[in-house]
Amino acid sequence: MSFKPQLNPNITTLKESATLAINLQAKAARADGKDVIHFGFGQSPFPVHGSIQKALQDNAHQKDYLPTRGLPKLCEAVVKWHKDLFDYDLHLDGVMVGPGSKEMIFQALYCLEGPVLVPAPSWVSYGPQVNIRGKIIESILTKRSNSYKMMPDELESACLKFPGEQKNLILNNPANPTGALYSSEEIKALVEVCRKHQVVVISDEIYSLVNFKSDSYMGFHNHYPEGTIITTGLSKSHGAGGYRLGILAAPENFSNLTKALCSMISETFSAVSAPIQYAALAAYTVNEDLLKHINQCTQIHKLAGEYLHGRFISMGLNCPKPEGAFYLFPDFENYREKLKSLGIKSCSDLAQEIFDKLLIAVLPGSDFYLDESYFGV
Ligand SMILES: Cc1ncc(COP(=O)(O)O)c(C=O)c1O
Repeated sequence: MSFKPQLNPNITTLKESATLAINLQAKAARADGKDVIHFGFGQSPFPVHGSIQKALQDNAHQKDYLPTRGLPKLCEAVVKWHKDLFDYDLHLDGVMVGPGSKEMIFQALYCLEGPVLVPAPSWVSYGPQVNIRGKIIESILTKRSNSYKMMPDELESACLKFPGEQKNLILNNPANPTGALYSSEEIKALVEVCRKHQVVVISDEIYSLVNFKSDSYMGFHNHYPEGTIITTGLSKSHGAGGYRLGILAAPENFSNLTKALCSMISETFSAVSAPIQYAALAAYTVNEDLLKHINQCTQIHKLAGEYLHGRFISMGLNCPKPEGAFYLFPDFENYREKLKSLGIKSCSDLAQEIFDKLLIAVLPGSDFYLDESYFGV
């Protein structure tokens, strides 16, 4: 039968998310009995803390729809958590709960007008989300010598390309895929540019507690509260990606956005599963044992990151040392000619070759807004 529905053209160009696609490839090879080393999917390997699991069990009977914005006690706990841990003064009425921070970033991007800027490399899903909205992402090329952190002059040049339009910036700190962590001073310098151009910042803080530095985490909210939307959730620091619980916090002056998001939520997913929100209440209640658990998991990520970094450097790869998150961003520039002679001409070729020959699942730089000629994976 040739009958097929017509589709929204913004969707037909989309591929399956790069991380989910590599996950399927790795799973299929594992199902065939192959021993795959899987670096292509950012999932915490650690168990969910007992206090959160217990709260989930104790609340299995919660069956009523919760308010669109989320369980009020959970929103209050999120505000207190961010005050205690990061000295943020979040606006309670701007806090919203969603099924993962990915969905909340999408909902915010859907509501916001104007171009969306991201540093390159950045997380794979921002671009496709912007494409679904019928827009194109403007990537800002960063330098390895700056640990792939975006510099104020790079942001300034990108802003100048869009006179008269609202600029939106998504910045993930600590960063997927580079492990870069912006210092307070670096954020302050970026904020100067943001303030000058009234940039709306989506500060993706999903890895804020997977921070390898001993000084406490500083985010955009500390320096630019009036222009910062925070997204975060349970997936990384709490190791609960499958719970699908994300948070968005908008400032008081963005009440038009908060109102729009409430309407969007009420007309789409309605509210997050009630038992999960009660479990999240335990996850966002500051308790020593939970914080110790999060810190221990982070220390293991740090050890693994430092070990791999050392190995990459001794292999002759270039790679900034990770300062947070679960990722490393090595490049094979030093092997470009050798790889070319083997017929490997692009980073996608290289990632595929590494999977086919070594059963190591990795993502190419081109999934992170870099050129195919970039020689990292
Ligand atoms: C940079 C970044 N932001 C957001 C997310 C989304 O996380 P979740 O939807 O599980 O909260 C991820 C997950 O991999 C991520 O790496």
